[in-house]
Amino acid sequence: MTTTHNITLRNSDKQFEAGNEDTVLDAALRAGFVLPYSCRTGSCGTCKAFVASGQVDYGVYQQQALSDAERGQGFALLCRAKPRSDLVVEAREVVAVEGIDIKILPCRVAKMELLSPDVMGLQLTLPKNQSFKYLPGQYIDILLRGGRRRSFSVANVAGHGSVLDLHIRRVPGGEFTNHVFTELKQRDLLRFQGPFGTFFLREDATGPVIFMAGGTGFAPLKAIIEHALAANVSRPMHLFWGARARRDLYMLELAESWAQAGDQFRFTPVLSEPLAHDQWQGETGLVHHAVTGTYPDLSAFEVYTSGPPPMIEAGKSSFARCGLPLDRLYFDSFEFANDRTQVENPA
Ligand SMILES: Cc1cc2nc3c(=O)[nH]c(=O)nc-3n(C[C@H](O)[C@H](O)[C@H](O)COP(=O)(O)OP(=O)(O)OC[C@H]3O[C@@H](n4cnc5c(N)ncnc54)[C@H](O)[C@@H]3O)c2cc1C
Ligand code: FES
Repeated sequence: MTTTHNITLRNSDKQFEAGNEDTVLDAALRAGFVLPYSCRTGSCGTCKAFVASGQVDYGVYQQQALSDAERGQGFALLCRAKPRSDLVVEAREVVAVEGIDIKILPCRVAKMELLSPDVMGLQLTLPKNQSFKYLPGQYIDILLRGGRRRSFSVANVAGHGSVLDLHIRRVPGGEFTNHVFTELKQRDLLRFQGPFGTFFLREDATGPVIFMAGGTGFAPLKAIIEHALAANVSRPMHLFWGARARRDLYMLELAESWAQAGDQFRFTPVLSEPLAHDQWQGETGLVHHAVTGTYPDLSAFEVYTSGPPPMIEAGKSSFARCGLPLDRLYFDSFEFANDRTQVENPA
């Protein structure tokens, strides 16, 4: 028998119900309340919140996302935690995403383009009678057999008809990404669920913005930046894009064209392992070092960063040391799916 518990959001006094087997995040999403989250697999820590009263089952998660000390102080990961009593939780609602339905939709592979030796551009078209609303920066889950799923950020701005662009990096030994490179064909059908996540531009803020991408972490930032430029956002913006070699900066000319279009946008590509034939004259090293080298005082900035988990972790601690307030750091850490700790359907 399912026991239901009452969950109260302390900041707003709003309430919703969650069953014993619901994660607090899934129950909140189902009730139409969006709390900060990204990976939904207990890996990134975005959904960490203070449980002011009540008991939870903490679920399976990675230590890096919630330390024992934080758990001891009363924090839990809402994408993993299941209620064992009524709860009072301290979590800010992300109002901009509310009212956007999370749907399951079929889609067709309209176009496949090799953007670099290990990045495939996939263009998906949706059924004509279906609408799909999302905020630039959000991601979708491609649904695989057996209830498994793989997350990919949407790289284009909503409103371009019913077309979604994805940038898919081939992971050595990766089941789905290898399928994309070896078997998937134009006109194949896929199913996806989304949109997910709370990685999008906070348009009520006014300060300067830094974007930091690693590899295909460029995808959600491309959507965010194209949206910001089209909306004439006048805040100073600086994109740093880190990759190994020149061939991995698979849309370098596009990023350069943003910087050429106006003074308020700057672009710095950074290579960690440039090849001799790259004849690279630009910045080298780790991309987060390029950010802190350029901006040793980040106290007035907002930072949006997406890409490999080690880059996000290194960025978080370096940026904090440079004075970036934690509540002005937004990130999508490209964690891989953990099929053993499969999340439940929030829809
Ligand atoms: C919110 C979010 C957004 C994402 N957006 C994108 C995107 O736009 N583009 C993109 O290319 N990727 C993105 N990712 C990462 C992407 O979801 C994974 O790379 C993908 O799930 C790999 O699927 P697979 O079946 O090929 O690998 P699996 O078969 O699941 O993995 C096989 C093994 O490869 C390793 N592995 C898999 N993925 C990774 C990884 N990302 N990093 C390091 N090791 C890994 C692990 O050891 C794993 O056990 C995103 C992830 C998240 C959470
Ligand atoms: S740890 Fe919960 S959303 Fe990533």
